[in-house]
Amino acid sequence: MTDSPLYFRQLLAGRDFAQDRPLAADMLNFVYLIGDKDSRECVVVDPAWDIQGILDRIAEDDMKLAGVLATHYHPDHIGGDLLGMAEVEGLRELLSLHPVPVHCQADETEWIRRSIGLAPTDLTPHESGDELLVGDVPVRLIHTPGHTPGSQCFLVGNRLVAGDTLFLQGCGRTDLPGGDPAEMYRSLHQRLAKLPDDTLLFPGHRYSPADSALLGDTRKTNQVFRVQSLDDWLRFMG
Ligand SMILES: [Fe+2]
Repeated sequence: MTDSPLYFRQLLAGRDFAQDRPLAADMLNFVYLIGDKDSRECVVVDPAWDIQGILDRIAEDDMKLAGVLATHYHPDHIGGDLLGMAEVEGLRELLSLHPVPVHCQADETEWIRRSIGLAPTDLTPHESGDELLVGDVPVRLIHTPGHTPGSQCFLVGNRLVAGDTLFLQGCGRTDLPGGDPAEMYRSLHQRLAKLPDDTLLFPGHRYSPADSALLGDTRKTNQVFRVQSLDDWLRFMG
């Protein structure tokens, strides 16, 4: 038993929503709901693929949507054109149904605006270290550039929602527009290094059999932590 008001739900695309969209199931995106069980408010991390399906999950838990947290601008996380293969539902559709604040990292606002054509007033930019209160539940924003310039992770209690910065195996690509392998090295080996080993890692995709893992275990098993210098890292990333 715990007195924590934390509400935390991990949803897998193609299984928990977007069940009728094969591409969503192929991409294996996780969407997260974070909120306060007492006030019934929640935010959604990276709403994409099936907005109504995500809103249905929120409604069936009797929660109210209070905002969006965006890890980064890629269309499988916020909607938009996916490499000409599909037009993915996302922030635009969500905001038309539910106008709520969209919290993004300051360096990502232009990328998000350009990729899906939102107005500047639709986005609330943040600096690293900012803390949001969802009801009484604090969520800390950590800027982790590398996959994109304004990628960010979210720390809530001992849980790290890491987007495409860190998976249980591997990390996000750094060869897409805005990617920077040296920044990714610093994000993994310096910015996230301050988090304790008992932090629970919740990634942006289900690229491993497990849905989450202790950061301490990930540091032992994930090859991105075996590389010990920036020079070796740049060779490793090709
Ligand atoms: Fe991505």
